[in-house]
Amino acid sequence: MSNKIQTLSGYIHEYAKSVQDPEHFWARIADSFHWQKRWDQVVDWNFEEPDVKWFTNAKLNITENIFERHLYTLGDKPAIIWEPNDPSEEVRTISYKELYGLVCQFSNVLKAKGISKGDRVIIYMPMVPEAAVAMLACARIGAVHSVVFAGFSATSLADRINDCKAKMVLTSDGNFRGAKKIAVKDVVDEAVEQTESIEKVIVLKRTGQEVSMKSGRDIWWHEAIDGVSTENQAEIVDSEDMLFILYTSGSTGKPKGVVHTCGGYMVYTTYTFQNVFQYSQGDIYWCTADVGWITGHSYIVYGPLLAGATTLMFEGVPTYPDAGRFWAICDKHKVNQFYTAPTAIRALQAYGTEPIEPYKLDSLQVIGTVGEPINEEAWHWYHDHIGKGRCPIVDTWWQTETGGVMISPIAGVTPTKPSYATLPLPGIQLAILDNDGKELIGNSVEGNLCVKFPWPSMLRTTYGDHERCRQTYFSSFKGYYFTGDGVKRDEDGYYRILGRVDDVINVSGHRMGTAEVENAINEHPKVIESAVVGYPHDIKGQGIYAYVICDMEGRSESNLIEEIRQTVTKIIGPIAKPDKIQIVPGLPKTRSGKIMRRILRKIATGETSSMGDTSTLLNPEVVEEIISGAQ
Ligand code: WT7
Repeated sequence: MSNKIQTLSGYIHEYAKSVQDPEHFWARIADSFHWQKRWDQVVDWNFEEPDVKWFTNAKLNITENIFERHLYTLGDKPAIIWEPNDPSEEVRTISYKELYGLVCQFSNVLKAKGISKGDRVIIYMPMVPEAAVAMLACARIGAVHSVVFAGFSATSLADRINDCKAKMVLTSDGNFRGAKKIAVKDVVDEAVEQTESIEKVIVLKRTGQEVSMKSGRDIWWHEAIDGVSTENQAEIVDSEDMLFILYTSGSTGKPKGVVHTCGGYMVYTTYTFQNVFQYSQGDIYWCTADVGWITGHSYIVYGPLLAGATTLMFEGVPTYPDAGRFWAICDKHKVNQFYTAPTAIRALQAYGTEPIEPYKLDSLQVIGTVGEPINEEAWHWYHDHIGKGRCPIVDTWWQTETGGVMISPIAGVTPTKPSYATLPLPGIQLAILDNDGKELIGNSVEGNLCVKFPWPSMLRTTYGDHERCRQTYFSSFKGYYFTGDGVKRDEDGYYRILGRVDDVINVSGHRMGTAEVENAINEHPKVIESAVVGYPHDIKGQGIYAYVICDMEGRSESNLIEEIRQTVTKIIGPIAKPDKIQIVPGLPKTRSGKIMRRILRKIATGETSSMGDTSTLLNPEVVEEIISGAQ
């Protein structure tokens, strides 16, 4: 814990050191970990290829840094506290020693079932401790996990399996989600049909619902671990060996597999966890994300466990059995640090303060948000009603690609400002560029958010397609990593994220490519063409608005709209379902045939009085027609 910043002057000092001599700065942080062999060089990089390596030639295993490094001091301490979907079901508390045994045992299972170093394993599981066990067991044997959020469709799952040629899927019979039971194994069965690389499927019994088990391929989890040793020698891997792949959406094409490696990710997630949340030994920390997203990877599993923290894992949803569930859990487990998403805050805000009243919330010390810009109203509500005016809010800006938090207050150290992520963490060298690629110097500027120096947990590549990684992140502005976000640096030098400047929309903190949703819509046989844009949505942050040209013959509009919704759910998953679908006679296009999304965004937002010049369009008349039919 010696790396914890405790004062504002301490932050300023650490930040300055991290920029003046990054190698020395990160070597000092990395020294508190257990390396089987020390590095030759702290960082070796260029942003042209890009080619980034941290702690070159160092050898380690990330799980040795969670378990062997902590066992003498923290063996009996709770590592995971698990709160089930149904509050009347028993809580599970798993100590570091117990978790170590479970991870070692499952490591042995994976090996026995044919997984070795470098093999890819898909995890499609509910929020139960076994999901963390699965991730860590992969890491322990040097296999690469790819967690897929268990709300994605069979098609999405199959695409990911095929992209990384995974050998195994870890899943459950079903998932509990509020009052619903989801037939997860059926989705896996359908997905695996469309793939060739899967050899084994291990199935955790969770809901007890009926599933079909394919002989020779499917194995029950409880049978697989039965009698297996709880001891396992960790595989020693290189600092730059792959730790995991996590698929995320971009502005074009199918989701890409963001690749994170072992050494740098370990160092950065631990350092940021300790500092941002100001975790102290004995605290109970809770992040409400799902392990299917990067937040779950870095700040439910890896960061907290590497820091020897107690991490609470919640299986359910914020509104089950009622809208006080989050607050009930905070009181029940005496949560000290609570980390959630603006969309959850806004959804709960809509229920008023009544659901909060039965609870004290007096254990809370720090409250955080992540995933999308938090509007001022939600910030104040969170601050006043949940933090009771006494807990600092950490508004943490980061991405799947950054691996860890980049811009955020350090709790209790950095003065906060509503809707501002405030200042970069030590080691993070930001730059704001205008559209011509000129770096804007000084305060009171606005532009494209970039990073000009590597940080340990940055993505290394996109799986199987390095050129796509270069194109997407390193080609817009030469010599910089481009985030895809717009940002403002105000008169105090504070950063406020303005949202995406590319064709990515952020729905309830979930990232979606407009092209990806369009492709799904276009799968419907009656659809001729479609265009998708985001629009402001009170709860979700952004909603999905789809303009669709259809062959209407023999169909009613309302039936067709419903069918299109279902097509998207089937192809991507319920999270991508358009909020609004408008059947249109045409789409506004430039003379070169490009869809003018700017116009469609304005119509979706209702800003039809400021359409700008539409006379250069190929089909200006269509604009009026779309406006008159807009929802
Ligand atoms: C995009 C990344 C990082 C974990 C969750 C999302 C937006 C994220 C904030 C914030 C404003 C934010 C950005 C970013 N975003 N955090 N605190 N304030 N916007 O990860 O799915 O990779 O999405 O989420 O637009 O680029 P992701």
